Amino acid sequence: MATLTIDLDERGYPIIIEAGCLAVIGDYLSKNAIGRRYAVIADSNVSGLYGHVLLHSLKSAGIEAELLVFPQGEASKNLQTLGDLAGRLARHGFDRHDALIALGGGVTGDLTGFLASTYMRGVPFIGVPTSLLAQVDSSVGGKTGVDIPEGKNLVGTFYQPAAVFIDLSLLTTLPRQEMLGGMAEVVKYGVIRDPEFFSMLRDKRQEILDLDQAILEEVVTTCCRIKAEVVSLDEREGGLRRILNYGHTIGHAVEAASEYATIHGFAVSIGMVAAARVAHLAGMLDGGSVASIRKLLVDYGLPVEIPKHLDCRRMKTYLLADKKTVGGRVHFVLPTAIGATRIVADVDDAIIERVLAWPDQDATGEI
Ligand SMILES: NC(=O)c1ccc[n+]([C@@H]2O[C@H](COP(=O)([O-])OP(=O)(O)OC[C@H]3O[C@@H](n4cnc5c(N)ncnc54)[C@H](O)[C@@H]3O)[C@@H](O)[C@H]2O)c1
Ligand SMILES: [Zn+2]
Repeated sequence: MATLTIDLDERGYPIIIEAGCLAVIGDYLSKNAIGRRYAVIADSNVSGLYGHVLLHSLKSAGIEAELLVFPQGEASKNLQTLGDLAGRLARHGFDRHDALIALGGGVTGDLTGFLASTYMRGVPFIGVPTSLLAQVDSSVGGKTGVDIPEGKNLVGTFYQPAAVFIDLSLLTTLPRQEMLGGMAEVVKYGVIRDPEFFSMLRDKRQEILDLDQAILEEVVTTCCRIKAEVVSLDEREGGLRRILNYGHTIGHAVEAASEYATIHGFAVSIGMVAAARVAHLAGMLDGGSVASIRKLLVDYGLPVEIPKHLDCRRMKTYLLADKKTVGGRVHFVLPTAIGATRIVADVDDAIIERVLAWPDQDATGEI
């Protein structure tokens, strides 16, 4: 078992990482009460798989709880679901002494966190992330929010949970595609901050893909530690936190230009290789490192090339519309070595165009 503490003065909180911890949350809360009653919020997939385990754990510890379910998927991450859940909380008589528990992936976490930050002007919430992406990324850092028709995550808050429980055994039911998408974010941490972790991901690939619980504990703990470090130093994304966007600038353009046919993690994988190529062409990163990043992602079964049918000009429009654009210049997070990055605003347009229109690669991964 690993416990990390997120260091944000009086709003610090523990992250408990252990296979099987879902079943002991009731025990923990009976000793460290966060609310009087709890509303467990889960999507329609996760509620059926794990809702009863959590409710049983709470009820056997003598804690009152209700399970509130919403339809799975990004399409539910909106103001309508938020309003619907708030109405159900009110009808169940939940008040400021009560707390919410987000049991699910990033959609559930973002939605529940936002609801917690606004319901009765703020009630505590607990994160129980169940997807790899949520365990290594969205459950740490305190960003909450929903989508509106004009764009993703445009309405939201910064709101920290009171505790996070990460049960690695839940990943056994996660669809393979979701697992791989999460792996792209895992590789991201190695590239931006930790060369030893990058090597470990290479050496333990089989164990990770086989969901070896001890190795996964190490992997998830390292990712949460890195994210926690970065977030503690820059909670509101003034500077350092932007390194977490590595792979996301071109990644978002690929996601949008493909009309979201390319899933987020796959687009980030493509975006990380593209950003590494930009760094190389700008003379900041050696070719060997580009090849290593590309190879690790390929070995995990992730895509690394911009799909051929995507229009380069269209992607450029999306790039410029990216919210990290300041004064028309796209800010790129570029690796300078495996484990180190720099944020660069003045990348030559010709380099970006060359990378976006990149020709087919040969199997050796030559850049
Ligand atoms: N707040 C942040 O800092 C942050 C960071 C990154 C991403 N996000 C957000 O996270 C969301 C994506 O998260 P996601 O990929 O977890 O999506 P998700 O919550 O929709 O989960 C993906 C799918 O996996 C299913 N699932 C989850 N856990 C499962 C399990 N253990 N077993 C079986 N099925 C399971 C879900 O029901 C869903 O169908 C996006 O909305 C994104 O904006 C937020
Ligand atoms: Zn991401």
